[in-house]
Amino acid sequence: MIKQVCCIGAGYVGGPTMSVFADKCKDINFNVVDVNADRIAAWNSKDLSKLPIFEPGLDEIVKRCRGKNLTFSTEVHKCISEADIIFISVNTPTKTKGIGAGKASDLKWVESCARQISEHARGYTIVVEKSTLPVRTGEVIKDILDSSQSSLNSKKKNSFDILSNPEFLAEGTAIDDLENPDRILIGGSNENAIKVLHDLYKRWVSEEKIIHTNLWSSELAKLTANAFLAQRLSSINSISALCEVTGADVREVSRAIGKDRRIGSKFLNVGPGFGGSCFKKDILNLVYLANHFGLPEVADFWESVVYLNSWNQDRLTRIILEKLFGTLTEKKIGILGFSFKANTNDTRESPAIQICKNLLNEGAFLKIHDPKVSQKQIALDLGIPSIEECLNEENLNKKNKDKKWEKSLLRNDFFENLDAVVVLTEWSIYSDIDWGKVSKKMRSPGWVFDTRLIVDEEKVINSGLCFWRVGVGTLKRN
Ligand code: UDX
Ligand code: ADP
Repeated sequence: MIKQVCCIGAGYVGGPTMSVFADKCKDINFNVVDVNADRIAAWNSKDLSKLPIFEPGLDEIVKRCRGKNLTFSTEVHKCISEADIIFISVNTPTKTKGIGAGKASDLKWVESCARQISEHARGYTIVVEKSTLPVRTGEVIKDILDSSQSSLNSKKKNSFDILSNPEFLAEGTAIDDLENPDRILIGGSNENAIKVLHDLYKRWVSEEKIIHTNLWSSELAKLTANAFLAQRLSSINSISALCEVTGADVREVSRAIGKDRRIGSKFLNVGPGFGGSCFKKDILNLVYLANHFGLPEVADFWESVVYLNSWNQDRLTRIILEKLFGTLTEKKIGILGFSFKANTNDTRESPAIQICKNLLNEGAFLKIHDPKVSQKQIALDLGIPSIEECLNEENLNKKNKDKKWEKSLLRNDFFENLDAVVVLTEWSIYSDIDWGKVSKKMRSPGWVFDTRLIVDEEKVINSGLCFWRVGVGTLKRN
């Protein structure tokens, strides 16, 4: 009988995943632990709007379960020692130095977890890899756990089984993805351990969706799923560049190809490029793996997906530069959206980072708005001390009580004397801007660059502003 579950890592994966588990399995305690005391304090904050992660529906679940069968603490050792199952949900960023730098994952946090587990776990424990890990990491974890036991006498020995159970949730829809998953993947070799995890999921996921594989297939399937999704985006983004110069409209092309059931209509929205903590990292992992196993052609194929993505971000910068008469020196540009996609406060690998850095390098003056990303985070991502002109929802509401963000922006003169506005994240509020009012504030000729195809075309055109849309091209003002 499973009574105690420990999850190491209270991040974007660990926090929401354990919250949904706790909601679905009220008879089991889920203890989420993290070395980052600030993050844990935020998870425990009374004010649910202060949770460290913004995810629609998460606050409600935390409210229901926290303090009952869901806890957040820094008591890593204690929770490990009590656990029947331990999920490893720590970060695995790309290595920045040494062999495999820029491609291989840095496994120091995973290794440190395995060492803590080997020291503090008691009796039989199932260890589940939840973080996306390079293929055969399970073996590393198993080696560390087994070697720690070999020197103990048989009475003191503990035993472990390792499972891979990758997370497929996407940020912004994490709760729905966790509650209604397309599939649950459980990789491993011990039938009993697999059954224990299977039975937990069975409480809310239908059995035909729970797939069992060997450990390596499960690890590789996760990398492959993300690589395929990212590849689709680089494919359609490459076509969008072609549409802009040929007069085709990428929305019509997407619609036409999406009707083919073999292709399908999802994940064909063009944009400034994919961001997020997973896609680039996982593809680079595949590239490293392929090279390691002497398959350079396979490595090159996948690397081109990442190459196209960063090329696309530079391409957008070049277009902005060209439209603004080839110079951005002292020009004022308003950036709408900084998170890597809508409905999240996460900025990891956000295309906005590269594009804003490019624009700053060209001498532009930026005003940045995002409904959920803090000024501090934006400054950190751009590597600058602070952003005085950057406004976000929190500041706007502090400055005046006006709930309507757009009025606040107008009142705060966000658009005052701007030469251009660039929409980088598809927050729904940006599709509802009164461009007529905005155009009166901007310097002429004012430009709107829509990199997400969400701006209301008619309103921009009628406002007299110049308009450029990704995958479509330029529309001259009347
Ligand atoms: C992704 C995978 O979807 C998820 O299964 C995995 O567990 C983690 O990585 P996430 O990074 O949260 O999830 O976001 P996702 O919705 O996949 O978007 C990734 C990036 O692609 C974003 O920058 C998004 O804006 C972009 N995107 C997505 C597009 O540009 N167009 C699309 O049609 C879809
Ligand atoms: P993800 O998106 O994969 O969830 P995050 O970076 O959001 O990644 O979260 C990972 C969390 O794991 C961080 O809060 C980090 O402090 C935590 N962490 C890393 N190593 C350890 C460890 N050895 N023990 C406890 N927590 C850890």
